[in-house]
Amino acid sequence: MNEEELREQINILKKEKNAVLLGHNYQPGNIQDISDYVGDSLGLSKQAAQTEAEIIVFCGVKFMAESAKILSPNKTVLLPEIEATCPMAEMIDAHGLRKKKKEYPEAAVVTYVNSTAEVKAESDICCTSSNALEVVESISEEQIIFAPDQNLGNYVAAQTDKEIILWDGYCSTHHRVKPEEIREVKKKHPEAPILVHPECVSGVVEQADYVGSTAGILEYAHSSKADKIIIGTEQGLIHRLKKENPDKKFYVLSPALICPNMKKISLKKVLNSLENFETEIEIPEDIRIKAEQALNRMLEVTG
Ligand code: 13P
Ligand code: SF4
Repeated sequence: MNEEELREQINILKKEKNAVLLGHNYQPGNIQDISDYVGDSLGLSKQAAQTEAEIIVFCGVKFMAESAKILSPNKTVLLPEIEATCPMAEMIDAHGLRKKKKEYPEAAVVTYVNSTAEVKAESDICCTSSNALEVVESISEEQIIFAPDQNLGNYVAAQTDKEIILWDGYCSTHHRVKPEEIREVKKKHPEAPILVHPECVSGVVEQADYVGSTAGILEYAHSSKADKIIIGTEQGLIHRLKKENPDKKFYVLSPALICPNMKKISLKKVLNSLENFETEIEIPEDIRIKAEQALNRMLEVTG
């Protein structure tokens, strides 16, 4: 089947089975183009909680599909490639987090959504890159275990008076961007604003003109008057940026900015997923209920 035929079949099955396709901003362009909704982690969580469809096909990585299942337990949630995982989410487990909680019994646990359902279940509240500071400020505890992203944690710590205890996880894609790369790009395009994701190291974040989630970067780029913009996040975002801002030029800050896991989803796999219900996300109910509390608490804070 060629691309056109694959798209046609996907659309037919989507209607027949009452399915919705949710795609992350880092997905390959052809996946973004057939998705019913494309967004950042927060937007996708909200869509998953609200959708009337019976089936959610999640085009992203596993923790995102798990969040959809946690928030919509009665729906069938499918991840077209079960090996599409986020390495950062694997850098912490429930056992390790329980140990940390014992070390800091007074601390609240704020967990980035880039984590497994088991880890969310051990947390007081979740956050995404677009609401991390707001979530931290919303809770009464002054001491916070922030897991698993040390870079997002550092970014929050620089803006709050609360004591932030960091986990040592990181995004294997964003963490590789070097502060020197930002200095080089500034020399080459001195007039271009630099927009970066808070998963980058502090030496990069400190030199940027804007720091935010993928949705925040899109918004900033839309409203910016600049016609050349440097993007410091996974290069999949360039697809939407170009599509929505045809008059502007976008440059990726570093060649390191490719998440191989996000690229494991293909049209063929989406079709297979709809045809054969592969692979269905299942979460034990006791874990799901606790993880849902942490996610819902976040959604209450940020609306
Ligand atoms: P956003 O929530 O900004 O879309 O980021 C998700 C992610 O995995 C970043 O690497
Ligand atoms: Fe995980 Fe980084 Fe890929 Fe996002 S870009 S899914 S944090 S590895």
